[in-house]
Amino acid sequence: KKVVLAYSGGLDTSIILKWLQTEYNAEVVTFTADLGQGEELGPAREKALKLGIKPENIFIDDLREEFVRDFVFPMFRANAQYEGDYLLGTSIARPLISKRQIEIARQVGADAVCHGATGKGNDQVRFELGYYALEPDIRVIAPWREWEFRSREALLDFAEKNQIPISKDKRGEAPFSVDANLLHSSSEGKVLEDPAVEAPEFVHQRTISPEDAPDVATVIEIGFEKGDAVSINGEAMSPATILTALNQYGHDNGIGRLDLVENRFVGMKSRGVYETPGGTILIAAHRGIESITLDGGSMHLKDQLMPKYAELIYNGFWFSPEREMLQAAIDKSQENVSGTVKVKLYKGNVSVIGRESPYSLYDQDLVTFEEGVQAYDHKDAAGFIKLNALRLRVLAKRDARKA
Ligand code: ARG
Ligand code: SIN
Repeated sequence: KKVVLAYSGGLDTSIILKWLQTEYNAEVVTFTADLGQGEELGPAREKALKLGIKPENIFIDDLREEFVRDFVFPMFRANAQYEGDYLLGTSIARPLISKRQIEIARQVGADAVCHGATGKGNDQVRFELGYYALEPDIRVIAPWREWEFRSREALLDFAEKNQIPISKDKRGEAPFSVDANLLHSSSEGKVLEDPAVEAPEFVHQRTISPEDAPDVATVIEIGFEKGDAVSINGEAMSPATILTALNQYGHDNGIGRLDLVENRFVGMKSRGVYETPGGTILIAAHRGIESITLDGGSMHLKDQLMPKYAELIYNGFWFSPEREMLQAAIDKSQENVSGTVKVKLYKGNVSVIGRESPYSLYDQDLVTFEEGVQAYDHKDAAGFIKLNALRLRVLAKRDARKA
């Protein structure tokens, strides 16, 4: 039996690794992805070797460019926000991990894949919908739903017995659970569980607080091509490089913090603290360039499709025909979404202060309050309003008769 494990190198997935070896008698293949979580990957290799994984069974991939280019950017074309606020930083990373894990399973001839998500959350659903969509007959092992450990203590005893190193502070529990990548970091649980209580400052890891941000604003110019960011201040950059740079700007100006109670797909409400510094700048700038390059009809339709699209990603349906249908419509809308946007960053805020595009639909001649142009005849407006008012007048007269 061969299993490909999504392995972070942390304590929990190390325990899972040992458990697979001892309980399943499985040959374990580890897969560790660099999605920009900001952790060295060298230690993950060392740890896997120490736990008896053969060198040829250790896969470590830098997926940062693919993550931003093929997942984050397509999602940002839609301005996707779940329940009005969440920029889906964890949700959008899961399909890529699933995809790469299945590729490795095929390559090494494994018959099962394994992840470290709990049985209460969204992530188990996202990982597994991805696996099944790409490899319908794959066996899925979800240790958190299967093993017999009933407490953190029991888990740590198992770790100790199997010589998995536990740092001192892990004996006392971690103060909250974190998931991080280039787009965001998310913190949930423990000290954050009471939604009435403000998150302590130490929860935040990739932004300074707006109160501590500089008293002078920073202005940057972001270039777009077909809906994707391609440059900052005139300098062309790769997708992952742009997001990394925007994260720094966001960090320095206290931008992108969110404290949210959300509805999980499995039915419960949960409270999370998110930091999406670069993404928060990016979505504002993207809306800015769309504001002059999209016509009203496509913009409004896009905004109606967005909540559905965001929900599909949140619920784990990236690899579904309906997500792909919506993506095709969204991508089509972006054909002329090119140009530059100036944004001002100041103490937790991002404001669009200028936009320019060779494909702009904004017509100063048409909109001006000064004496206008041929294309617009004021007299046309009278009939336009009268016909739109017709049914409202009929209704009002009916209601007057009733009274
Ligand atoms: N609630 C977020 C989501 O479902 C984040 C989940 C993972 N975060 C964590 N801290 N374990 O996308
Ligand atoms: C987990 O349950 O592993 C994290 C939280 C979630 O997936 O919603």
